[in-house]
Amino acid sequence: MYKEKLEEAEQRLYLFMVQYLGGPKHYNEMRGLPRLRIRHQPFAIDEDAKNSWLANMRTALDKSNINADDKEFLWDYFVKTANFMRNK
Ligand code: HEM
Repeated sequence: MYKEKLEEAEQRLYLFMVQYLGGPKHYNEMRGLPRLRIRHQPFAIDEDAKNSWLANMRTALDKSNINADDKEFLWDYFVKTANFMRNK
């Protein structure tokens, strides 16, 4: 789906999550307001793409050593936001 440099996409998601979780606002300084739904518009995100994205995030959460409450918090946020990103 995304043919550019993955390291840069990883960095954007990282900075966004840091900011969303109350950390420094480097994402906004670098990219402006998130406007995530508009930024995802160029990509066809259907139910399969959404589920695939969520499955990867589930794997990442399961591998991480953060506590169960934080995992649940992040998972709820990912599910809710991924549903909002669906545009097909
Ligand atoms: C529903 C499944 C999703 C798919 C298939 C998807 C796919 C993509 C793709 C292809 C990009 C472009 C790469 C880039 O410019 O960084 C992107 C960017 C991004 N995505 Fe997603 N995404 C999904 C859900 C989400 C969710 C749930 C979040 C937030 C929790 C999120 C946060 C971001 C951010 C912060 C960017 C970078 C925006 C920018 O500054 O340009 N995405 N996504």
